[in-house]
Amino acid sequence: MQISIIGTGYVGLTTGVCLAELGHKVLCVDNDEEKIKKLVSGIIPIYEPGLDKLIKKNAKRIKFSSQIKDAVKYGEVIFIAVGTPSNPDGSPDLSYIENVAREIAKWLDEYKVIVEKSTVPVETAQWIKKTIDKYKKNNVEFDVVSNPEFLREGTAVNDFLHPDRIVLGVESKRAEKIMLKVYQKIKSPKIVVDTKSAELIKHASNSFLATKISFINAVANICELTGADIEKVALGMGLDKRIGKEFLKAGIGYGGSCFPKDVDAFIWIAEKVGYNFGILKEVKKVNQHQIELFIKKVEDTLWILKDKTIGILGLSFKPNTDDIRESPAIKVITVLKQKGAKIKAYDPKAVEKMKQIFPDIEYCRSVYDTAKNCDCLLILTEWDEFKKMDLKRIKQLMVHPTIIDGRNIFEPQKITKLGFIYKSIGR
Ligand code: UDX
Repeated sequence: MQISIIGTGYVGLTTGVCLAELGHKVLCVDNDEEKIKKLVSGIIPIYEPGLDKLIKKNAKRIKFSSQIKDAVKYGEVIFIAVGTPSNPDGSPDLSYIENVAREIAKWLDEYKVIVEKSTVPVETAQWIKKTIDKYKKNNVEFDVVSNPEFLREGTAVNDFLHPDRIVLGVESKRAEKIMLKVYQKIKSPKIVVDTKSAELIKHASNSFLATKISFINAVANICELTGADIEKVALGMGLDKRIGKEFLKAGIGYGGSCFPKDVDAFIWIAEKVGYNFGILKEVKKVNQHQIELFIKKVEDTLWILKDKTIGILGLSFKPNTDDIRESPAIKVITVLKQKGAKIKAYDPKAVEKMKQIFPDIEYCRSVYDTAKNCDCLLILTEWDEFKKMDLKRIKQLMVHPTIIDGRNIFEPQKITKLGFIYKSIGR
């Protein structure tokens, strides 16, 4: 099939490349001409494991353009994967989606399936339909489908090609048939529902996962107050199949481009339709509190932060990505700087992006470089590289061997035996 993708961010680019891997011919469109130029010359603007290989492998089937007109002409199916950032009140800013819908309407001259892939509030599919109907130039037929993405950064390629499920929100048999053809080669369960249910599946899924994280973080806090061990509690809970082991990892809270934004949006949507989503408001509060507790732990350990050298290990919001959007590291560094600490920082992939936010802190090339002359190391992202570091060497390099671990990557007994002051979450 010929398929167009509008928006070449994490979601759009991964979707386009993976659809090419399934055998489709794909046109990826973005209004950022610089980005398109880079893509045409083989430079991938994001770090996502496996994506570069797949682009090269399927190069013949992937084209790029900066014109929506081309997308409308090219694709029998047109995916919209543009950003939906948050407004200050938590509502999603849908202006990019609306613009794209109006542009599509301008060029539509035969039947197309228009697919919303970006995370959007319930009823957005209807709005896209109304908008295209209003601005289209002729009496052409089209369908709008909601096909939410469930891609995790870092494992997005695998998540796309081997998903737990594919959700298709459709309003016509014609669109359903075409969408099933798009995903024919993927054997995972496909559930076909109405567009509103599909939109809500996305919101409810992400919010539920965020709830799981905040729940386990709240339990971690109780563990600290009682002397229990959150890792053991989470294991014991997770073995119950109804609960499941995934997303029960206590830490400094969730970040990233999805959970914080999606939780805000779901609270806002609920409010708008007249429901006070109290549970979710608490989920957000627990997440914010988690990072405050972590900073308090640093102060309780170091007492005065002014002029202390603190090494930050991990800047991305989670491992295997260079994404720093809503990363806990941003809040931690901001507060530590305000309190006068000297910051050294290292991340295997996210240094360049963090330099744009904090140009004035010291960036290091390795964990050992970072540890040199530090009063304390903070672990903010659970990169494998950190789990494997030579702790004896680290100890020698530091002014004082203190590690505060926001991701529980070490065994407390083992590391304290090596002579470290070690604090972690919920144990
Ligand atoms: C998420 C959803 O998983 C995905 O389905 C959706 O489409 C986009 O949002 P992503 O943001 O890439 O994906 O990352 P994810 O792996 O879900 O982690 C989100 C955040 O939760 C990270 O900050 C991570 O550190 C944190 N997390 C995750 C925990 O603190 N504990 C856990 O047990 C799991």
